[in-house]
Amino acid sequence: MRKSAAVVAAISLLLCAAAELSFSAEAKTNNPYGGNTSVLKEGKRIYESNCKSCHGDGAKGDICPDLTTKKKKFGNTDADVYTTISKGRPAGMPNWDNTLGSDKIWKVIAYLRSLEK
Ligand code: HEC
Repeated sequence: MRKSAAVVAAISLLLCAAAELSFSAEAKTNNPYGGNTSVLKEGKRIYESNCKSCHGDGAKGDICPDLTTKKKKFGNTDADVYTTISKGRPAGMPNWDNTLGSDKIWKVIAYLRSLEK
């Protein structure tokens, strides 16, 4: 009897841990810097040194898509834009996972949001 109670306790612990894990994965799909104007300067700097050569001044598009429009080919939720930037897209959008890491990717997204019309 005791043993089975311990097993039940262990299982519920595991379930809680799993719920916690899926919760944090979920939370990651929203920009932790959403609406945070203090990161815009850094986001702009990241944009200008990594993205501007293709996406143009103020992200208005050059040889590559305009990033200031709310309608985006690959979707415009935080999760969509994060996936686009971190994993890249087939027609020539490089992946930035290793170069920038998630913190800088979220900052550049915060900057892009500030340009959206
Ligand atoms: C070498 C040129 C190049 C660079 C540098 C580049 N991109 Fe792109 N990007 C592209 C191309 C080309 C596409 C279109 C991909 C497609 O349609 O498959 C694209 C698409 C995108 C999209 C999706 C637009 C949509 O309509 O869904 C986003 C967002 C984006 N880029 C953000 C960035 C950010 C942020 C950076 C800098 C970290 C960056 N890009 C750097 C070439 C580039």
